[in-house]
Amino acid sequence: MNPTYLPPKYAPHLQIPVFLVMNRAGSVGKTSVANSVFTLAALRGWTGLIIDADLQSDMSFWFGYDGDMVPEDTPTIHDLMLGSATLEAVTVPARTRIAAGQGDDAFQEIPGLDLVRGDIKMKQADGELVSAKDALAVFWLQNVIRKQVPQGKYDFIVIDAPASYGRLSESLLVAATDVITMMKPMRKELRGAAALAKEIVSLNDDYDRHDVRVSPTWYCINDAKVASQGHFFSNIQDEAREIYGDRLLPELKNAVIVAEAYDAQEPLPIWAPKSESMKTIGLIADQLGFPEKRA
Ligand SMILES: Nc1ncnc2c1ncn2[C@@H]1O[C@H](COP(=O)(O)OP(=O)(O)OP(=O)(O)O)[C@@H](O)[C@H]1O
Ligand SMILES: [Mg+2]
Repeated sequence: MNPTYLPPKYAPHLQIPVFLVMNRAGSVGKTSVANSVFTLAALRGWTGLIIDADLQSDMSFWFGYDGDMVPEDTPTIHDLMLGSATLEAVTVPARTRIAAGQGDDAFQEIPGLDLVRGDIKMKQADGELVSAKDALAVFWLQNVIRKQVPQGKYDFIVIDAPASYGRLSESLLVAATDVITMMKPMRKELRGAAALAKEIVSLNDDYDRHDVRVSPTWYCINDAKVASQGHFFSNIQDEAREIYGDRLLPELKNAVIVAEAYDAQEPLPIWAPKSESMKTIGLIADQLGFPEKRA
C-alpha cells in the first residue's frame, strides 16, 4: 500500500519522509490529523520531529506550549527561520497535560516526539522571506533539515503549515518530500486540492537546480459523511476515491472528542485511545508507514 519511498535528493543521509500538512482552506483538520497520527506513531515506537510553522501555533498548544505567549529569550521557529537559533535550541519535547496549571509539572513528555515551537511572530514570515537580502532565504528549512538533523535521529519529520499560500508556504514545500492535503467532502475543497497539487508539481520545475523533490502524495477527507447524511457528500467522497486511489487515506468522521482533546491539551491517542476516531487514525498511521513497532 505504501508507495516505494524515494529519499529526497537534498538529504541523502536522512532517508526519511518530511511530511507537510497543507491545504489552502483553513480549519479542515490539518493540525488535528497530524497531531493524532504522529503522536500515535511515536507511541508505536517511531521517533519524530514536528515543526509548527503556523502562526496560530495550535500544534504547539496541543503539545503543551503556548505560541502566543512565548517566554522572552525562548527561541522558536521564528528564530530558526531568521537563522538566529539552531534547530537544537528551538526543539523541545512534545508533551501531554497531566494536571491543571501552566508549570512544567502540569505536563508529561511524550517519548520519541520532539517539537519545534511555533510562534505568533510567524505572521511576519511571508514579508521577511520576500524582503530577505539572501535570494536563497526560501531554502531556510531545507537547509536546516539538510544540515542540522542528525542521521538516524528521526524516523519522520512533520511540518504543520498555515492555511495560506505565500512565501512561507513555498519555503515549507521546498523542504518537504510528501504533502498531506486535507479536504472536507465539498466541491470547493476538491478543486482546491487539485489546484494545490498542480502548484506543487510545477514548484519542482521552478526549483529544479535546488534539489527540490516534493510530491502531493497523500489526501485525507475529514468530516466524512455517511450516505444518510446526503448523497451529495458521499458522491464527492466516491469521486475522491476514484481520483486518488491508494493515495487517499482513511476518512475521518466528525467526533467531539477531537475538539475535546485539543482543549484538554492531550493528543487523541492519549485522550481517547479506544475511540472510533482512533481506529481511523491507526489505519492512517499504518498507511503512512508507521505500524505498531513494539508488537
Ligand atoms: N474530526 C473532527 N471532529 C470534530 N472536530 C474536529 C475534527 N477535526 C477537526 N475538528 C475541529 O475543527 C477545528 C479545525 O481543526 P484543525 O485546527 O485541526 O484544522 P486546521 O486545518 O489545522 O486549521 P488551521 O487552518 O486554522 O490551521 C478545530 O476546532 C478542531 O478541534
Ligand atoms: Mg492548523
